[in-house]
Amino acid sequence: MFPEIERTLVTRGQIAARVAEMARDIARDLKADLIRDGHSALDEDRVVLIPVMTGAMIFAADLIREMPVKLAIGLVTVSSYPGQSVSSKGAQLASALPDNLAGKHVLVIDDILDSGQTLALVREVVGAQKPASLRIAVLLDKKTARVREVPVDYVGFEIPDEFVVGYGLDYDGYYRNHPEIAVLSKSVLDAAEQRG
Ligand code: IMP
Ligand code: MG
Repeated sequence: MFPEIERTLVTRGQIAARVAEMARDIARDLKADLIRDGHSALDEDRVVLIPVMTGAMIFAADLIREMPVKLAIGLVTVSSYPGQSVSSKGAQLASALPDNLAGKHVLVIDDILDSGQTLALVREVVGAQKPASLRIAVLLDKKTARVREVPVDYVGFEIPDEFVVGYGLDYDGYYRNHPEIAVLSKSVLDAAEQRG
């Protein structure tokens, strides 16, 4: 689809199969929480999913359609990559957080856990509202890139420390609609690297 894309790391089929498995695990755990609380699994207003925009958009859209759980969605936007860069410049909240998380079962959803700064921040601000439970799901984990440790509950795939695009992940705002997890060509990445 894009000539700048060099190779695929995770195919559409692999993503679809793994997302369905993750959804099953998450739904099972949330139902167990609700039953433990004395609610039925269909109770209203107890589960809130927080996709971290914009990267988690496609992953979250696929995940929730595999989850037969009554849930609300509260978006949060975090920015860490100004313009044409491929390394985090520190995470900042770029939108208000939903303010009704106290007592709820909250699942934060992101595309990738890299340095950990984004999810450490989101975990902290969500946790401050005292949810009944707080879990994190990420599609991808670049384990070797960690600067801040963050406990995550569900991981789709571990990947090597390479800059990836597709399935929601971008470079300079583009390639989010590429349907696979892929690596850009060396010339694009080298140019980005030089800009820092
Ligand atoms: P962290 O704060 O370094 O853990 O980075 C997390 C955020 O940076 C993710 O939510 C992504 O939006 C973005 N990110 C990290 N690695 C990549 C990548 O390889 N490609 C595209 N975006 C990335
Ligand atoms: Mg992000």
